[in-house]
Amino acid sequence: DIKGFTFDLDGVITDTAKFHEQAWKQTAEEVKTPWSDQLAADLKGISRMDSLEMILKAGNHEKSYSHEEKVALADQKNKKYQQLIKQLTPADILPGMEKLLNDLKSAGYQMSLASASKNAPGILKQLGISDYFKGIVDPATLHAGKPDPEIFVRAGEILGFRAEEMIGLEDAPAGIKSIKGAGQTALGIGPATKTAVPDLYFDNTAEVSLAAIKERMA
Ligand code: BG6
Ligand code: MG
Repeated sequence: DIKGFTFDLDGVITDTAKFHEQAWKQTAEEVKTPWSDQLAADLKGISRMDSLEMILKAGNHEKSYSHEEKVALADQKNKKYQQLIKQLTPADILPGMEKLLNDLKSAGYQMSLASASKNAPGILKQLGISDYFKGIVDPATLHAGKPDPEIFVRAGEILGFRAEEMIGLEDAPAGIKSIKGAGQTALGIGPATKTAVPDLYFDNTAEVSLAAIKERMA
């Protein structure tokens, strides 16, 4: 029986994935890495420093920057990102997601957050939905980011259920891999997740509901 849900944030609960992309695109321009849809897709769900490394590598210049320069580039990206998310309000919750959180809560399920983003606690506050979550994994304490299973294992530990009793929600292939590695049921949202073969699939957030999930789990 399913008892809990482990949520990704960016691209699942709110459309901040587009702001991450916009900010990273600027970094790519600065380090002269050609931008592509593939690179943008590969960056989804990946931690801040790992994302920067991927951008440098895509331009073949991971060796051209010192550690300090890399930290400065990552800081710059985060400042740009924080500028872009300043205006986030509850109206920016993706279609269907507040109803889902509400329905899950009413039905007695527990929720935790498995976001790679250090900005996640602030974003939940801006969206007005912090109270739905029993806890948030602090990505600064992880040894490895998505696709490693650690973040979803930790999100599961917050809830205290067995892996088979939890469903993880993700919009990124790296996240689907992480959920599956943690032994939870992987719910993928959007065509990009298909490459990682989610256990349950929905085209968009509007189609994700407790009723639909129950139907597909039956
Ligand atoms: C993930 C996003 O949720 O968080 C990534 O999908 C982002 O795009 C990562 O790089 C880290 O976010 P932050 O806010 O800590 O830089
Ligand atoms: Mg995401």
